Amino acid sequence: MPEQVQQAVSNQEIAAQMEYAGRAKSLLSQRYSHPPMAYVHSFGCQQNQSDGEKIKGLLAQIGYGFTDQVENADLVIYNTCAVRENAQDRVFGNVGALKPVKQERPDMLIGLCGCMMQQNSVSEKIKKSYPYVDLVFGTHALHLLPELLFRRVSGEKRQFSNAEGPGRIVEGLPLRRDGSIKANLPVMYGCDNFCSYCVVPYVRGRERSRRPEDILSEARELVRQGYREITLLGQNVNSYGKGLPEPVDFSDLLREINRIEGDFQIRFMTSHPKDCTRKLIETIADCEKVCRHIHLPVQSGSNRILKAMNRRYTVEGYLELIDYARKCIPGITFSSDIIVGFPGETYEEFRQTVELIKRVRYHTLYTFIYSPREGTKAASMEDPIPEKEKSRWLRELLAEQDVIRGELQNNLIGKTIRVLADGEGKSGEGWISGRTASNDIVEFIAPKETIGSFITVEIERALNWASFGKLK
Ligand code: 5AD
Ligand code: SF4
Repeated sequence: MPEQVQQAVSNQEIAAQMEYAGRAKSLLSQRYSHPPMAYVHSFGCQQNQSDGEKIKGLLAQIGYGFTDQVENADLVIYNTCAVRENAQDRVFGNVGALKPVKQERPDMLIGLCGCMMQQNSVSEKIKKSYPYVDLVFGTHALHLLPELLFRRVSGEKRQFSNAEGPGRIVEGLPLRRDGSIKANLPVMYGCDNFCSYCVVPYVRGRERSRRPEDILSEARELVRQGYREITLLGQNVNSYGKGLPEPVDFSDLLREINRIEGDFQIRFMTSHPKDCTRKLIETIADCEKVCRHIHLPVQSGSNRILKAMNRRYTVEGYLELIDYARKCIPGITFSSDIIVGFPGETYEEFRQTVELIKRVRYHTLYTFIYSPREGTKAASMEDPIPEKEKSRWLRELLAEQDVIRGELQNNLIGKTIRVLADGEGKSGEGWISGRTASNDIVEFIAPKETIGSFITVEIERALNWASFGKLK
């Protein structure tokens, strides 16, 4: 039997959950005199936001409406992130704040799920110290929500589920998407890279790819519904296809999606530089619907640190890739993630990162101070640099990036660019906000009806956070 078949949650299992959803729905209608309302908040990355849409889909099936106020909610769900300590602390803070709310309204339900909950140490802590939490389920148990909720509402004890194992593919869950213009489309789950600082491989399991036909039919449906942007998601999209019975890689998949007829564009994230092939770059160049932008996290500009991070590429190899992409795709832009203060990093090594960002000139940087994560290799490495010093380095990096960003933004002045209008602007009445291919904000005055379409704007003025222009 191909490996992939064993990795899928069966139709029968999904059908059983849908039956639980029906039973939970009828119990809830006895419990409340009003239609029950849920507040769902997802922390962290787009993958987690995408999981949040599945959670909302399941809850809608159970009969929940949605509120963005905890005070009005009969069910509060925090879909958590474990990637850095501050994300984790925020969750504990938010859960602590629910204690008095629950005392006042004992029939409110509280559920915690996502990456933090996949860790035994965290779910044990919730068990012991947060007795008012009703449901705890990890990333591998998301599809069990109807059953867990049904059990709890029918009077069983608090429900904990963080199913061990490598993780499986779940197809066919109902979805409630957050937007109507841009959609996330997961193509693969999990990560096998084990970068030494990162908790993701431990909480999201082994790499597993969705079948191309499932992805394509979801993409076609999104286009049919009028979505204008599809972001293909995976922790490492460049290893898409490994383990599938048919030979297919991420470039092939991009080409197939690009072939779908309609007025839409394609983004993808995240690309790991070690697997970003020339074939992928040539594919982007060929596919007119793919945005001319790559998020290509470099993490560090020092070969010694990259090795200690287990990133498996060198600065030189990375720069070659950037240069090749620039050669094949004129006007392509890049963004990146950077970690400052990895254990043992010296100031000189940190300065190599600054040199690298000056060389590449990223449109956007997502910068983080290293945060030790339990169970990862880096957590046991010597880390002598004080936090205050790391913050100083980070400020130094951000100051350099600000200059680069300012210059790149200024270069836009006088240019006519295509943007996807995606909402109201921040500049006042009549202003609309849009995004460029590099995902930068552009504001312009236009009728509200332009929201949801591609338009061209002539840029007249630019600040670091956005540029401003007029419709062409
Ligand atoms: N500390 C700081 N940043 C981290 N990231 C992942 N793990 C850690 C950590 N332990 C960052 C990386 C990754 C991004 C999603 O989060 O830069 O690319
Ligand atoms: Fe974490 Fe590295 Fe996997 Fe990204 S590629 S999720 S940083 S282990």
